[in-house]
Amino acid sequence: MKTTQQGNQNPLENLDEWEDDLLQRYPDPEAIAKGKATEKYRDYETPARDTVKEFYLLNHTYQTYDFVREKEQEFLKFDKKEMPIWDAFDFLNQLVDDSDPDTDLDQMQHLLQTSEAIRADGHPDWMVLVGLLHDMGKVLCLFGEPQWAVVGDTFPVGCAFSDKIVYSEFFENNPDHHDSRYNTRYGVYTPNCGLRNVHMSWGHDEYVYQMLKDHLPEPALYMLRYHSFYPQHRENAYEHLMDSHDHELFKWVKLFNPYDLYSKSPVPPNWQELQPYYKALVKKYLPDTLKF
Ligand SMILES: [Fe+2]
Ligand SMILES: [Fe+2]
Repeated sequence: MKTTQQGNQNPLENLDEWEDDLLQRYPDPEAIAKGKATEKYRDYETPARDTVKEFYLLNHTYQTYDFVREKEQEFLKFDKKEMPIWDAFDFLNQLVDDSDPDTDLDQMQHLLQTSEAIRADGHPDWMVLVGLLHDMGKVLCLFGEPQWAVVGDTFPVGCAFSDKIVYSEFFENNPDHHDSRYNTRYGVYTPNCGLRNVHMSWGHDEYVYQMLKDHLPEPALYMLRYHSFYPQHRENAYEHLMDSHDHELFKWVKLFNPYDLYSKSPVPPNWQELQPYYKALVKKYLPDTLKF
């Protein structure tokens, strides 16, 4: 296996490459039914796919139990920055990679398309707000964090890595995989201990959940916290750590996922028109500024 020590820590051209790869793995069933498949989304050339593979090699090598605990210490103090949410979106939009002709939809557009699709289906307003906020944790990239510590499918650390995780063979490089404290079915956990007791691989989900946990109802918090937990919400690989409460709340996580994956459309939402609605929505649930 190739060494990752000196390699590029950010193999993805931009963060959307991970999400585009998700679409290849979990194509839109409706689009398939209508014969549209996923071709209207970005089509991968072989070299582009390799960047995703390289990305997962790094992610699976370095996301250890100790690494996660360190990042929790570092970022869950929220002492980096304080700003109104609208400044955070501007900040987030700096992530756009201008060299990529396909990325004319910036991060804000993805958030708005997700939230607008949720709103169009008549879901509660706090779920619309989740659509708007769910990827805000990607600001971690702007604090200098490498891509593999911001995006990618998430999974529990501190216990055996499931072979249902994408590119699970790369865990061979992860020291925890060879550590008897962490490589058994339950590792540091107990059967059905509940996900609230489980440390997930570090990334934008946990970060945004912790940031907003006092402001939104519990189903919204589950959607934020576990939206990248494909190994469970798509693959059911971690039921042995979940309790009945998790199962109840995962209905919401599963409800949210298609809006995240399949709401991309070539027509960008009109922010000028939508602004009053979203300003009011944010005001209803969130304080004037948030701590990052
Ligand atoms: Fe996300
Ligand atoms: Fe997203």
